[in-house]
Amino acid sequence: MTTVFAMSGSIRRASFNTRLLRLAVDELRSAGATVDLADLAGFELPIYNGDFQEHHGVPDPAVVLQARIAAADGLLIASPEYNGAFTPLLKNTIDWVTRVDMFSFQPKLIGLLGASPGRRGAQHGMAMVEEMFSYMRCTTFRPHFSLPKAGEALDDDGLTDRAEVDRLAGWAAAYLAATAEHAVAAAPT
Ligand SMILES: Cc1cc2nc3c(=O)[nH]c(=O)nc-3n(C[C@H](O)[C@H](O)[C@H](O)COP(=O)(O)O)c2cc1C
Repeated sequence: MTTVFAMSGSIRRASFNTRLLRLAVDELRSAGATVDLADLAGFELPIYNGDFQEHHGVPDPAVVLQARIAAADGLLIASPEYNGAFTPLLKNTIDWVTRVDMFSFQPKLIGLLGASPGRRGAQHGMAMVEEMFSYMRCTTFRPHFSLPKAGEALDDDGLTDRAEVDRLAGWAAAYLAATAEHAVAAAPT
């Protein structure tokens, strides 16, 4: 069975990205995947500082997160866009995880979702996430799932437009199939 670790780069209570991530996770679970959905609010980490690591080591939340990520075939990230980039929360989390094991992300297929209230649907921020992972020699699934005008596209019941529900379901199915294939290719022989 294919396993996926999922996290959102926003811990805002009403986060569009976390809501979109939960909908994608529902789709993956319906399709038979095992999904470990982490709420980063429960993994408080100081801003990375080499002096802190030297004196205190890597904080436990990063060690726990790394183990949970390492156990999964795929990594699903909902990435809000801040000033054309991704959030400091996401970057700091990734940086700490790489202090546990710098290759933590390498064998995973990384799926990216992004929602924003504007017209671009966090596309630029997701491109930067892909660029960072590419630098780390990780593979990012294409296409990214972008949700523009999130204030209208999402309500308490989920996606407001049936066509968007279908688009997300199709994207999740394609990401899951690609993750299963990627896991086979990445497995040691
Ligand atoms: C510091 C900051 C910078 C932002 N920059 C962008 C941006 O470059 N592009 C964009 O589409 N939205 C931008 N926004 C708006 C976010 O997309 C919006 O706050 C969104 O709701 C954040 O994601 P969340 O709902 O998952 O918390 C920015 C918001 C903040 C707080």
